[in-house]
Amino acid sequence: MTPAEQSLMALEICRLAPVIPVIVVEELAYARPLAEALVAGGLPALEVTLRTPVALDAIRAMAEVPGGVVGAGTLLTPADVKAAKAAGAKFGVSPGATDRILDACAEWDLPLLPGAATATEIMVLLEKGYTVQKFFPAEQAGGAAYLKSIGAPLPQVKFCPTGGISLKNAMDYLSLGNILCVGGSWVAPKAALAKGDWAEVTRLAAEAKGLRG
Ligand code: 3PG
Repeated sequence: MTPAEQSLMALEICRLAPVIPVIVVEELAYARPLAEALVAGGLPALEVTLRTPVALDAIRAMAEVPGGVVGAGTLLTPADVKAAKAAGAKFGVSPGATDRILDACAEWDLPLLPGAATATEIMVLLEKGYTVQKFFPAEQAGGAAYLKSIGAPLPQVKFCPTGGISLKNAMDYLSLGNILCVGGSWVAPKAALAKGDWAEVTRLAAEAKGLRG
């Protein structure tokens, strides 16, 4: 799958809702009810980070939830890309971009949201054909003001910023013309997961969905 084809699919996924939940699954038993709760609240695109031993099994379980579009985050190696695809991930997210990761996504047909944080990194990805990118770590790398400035010379690149974003500052990003959606972990807080408080997760998801009418 070419970078341009990947970005077209990423564009569709990023347009599903204003927020992509960034999920850390510690217990496999959470996976399905958590995905159901988020989808019920209006957030269908889900990023499961490959940071826990059960992450790939969690993707497998979540991929069966009706209405969900489950992706794998924290892709760091070609092996991660292959395993994510095999687990049923519909898209991938990486904090940065290396040639090995990009080549693996082309080879395994996984639409990637590649991470970038500087004008040069964004331009290198654009040269390859990636018009949809993750901006990471968003708040620490300059936040909404930075992305607004990047949009002047590079309006053709659209972003999903992630890192330090919550309900409080999400609109600073979503109100910009070059932002498709934001990513954030606040809609799947550890405490709610530990208690199995799926109603709270659905409430947070619905609140996040409401950021864009
Ligand atoms: C991450 O990779 O952890 C994401 O950027 C989520 O960041 P957040 O926890 O600040 O939303």
